[in-house]
Amino acid sequence: MQEKFKLSKSLDDAVELVTLPKLTDPRGNLTFVEGKRHIPFDIERVYYLYDVPSGEARGGHAHHKLQQLIIAVAGSFDVLLDNGYEKRTITCNRPFQGILMKSLVWRELNNFSSGSVCLVLASMAYQESDYIRDYNEFVSVATNEGKR
Ligand code: TYD
Repeated sequence: MQEKFKLSKSLDDAVELVTLPKLTDPRGNLTFVEGKRHIPFDIERVYYLYDVPSGEARGGHAHHKLQQLIIAVAGSFDVLLDNGYEKRTITCNRPFQGILMKSLVWRELNNFSSGSVCLVLASMAYQESDYIRDYNEFVSVATNEGKR
């Protein structure tokens, strides 16, 4: 069983921009991801968001233990990241780059372009008990745990 995250006031400790291998080829480019090589976890689950209507948002939660890599494999979207102390918005629009969420972080995804696809590689199977869906609860958990 993984331990709960150790928290930090800096988002830089919770989130990392990962540049993946990109094999440029006149037949079309290829990018790959290997668990424990390009990301610090074994990939237990893959899911993807697509056909997101203009103006809609996804996410709006944090996780106690789950680590994820988010990739815009098509199109673009914005990811708002928040560790309870600091907020940052990153635009995802390169299929060879991903946002690695290593620690307790609130995320919201919006501004999906038409035809965009958000691919997520996750360290654990879906588990509702790992979610924090209430923002005030998230801030309380993130900031209190940081003091321990
Ligand atoms: P949720 O993670 O809340 O979506 P988002 O953060 O993108 O808005 O999941 C939405 C619903 O889908 C929720 O009822 C749980 C279900 N779900 C699964 O069953 N398995 C999964 O791997 C994921 C990510 C969600």
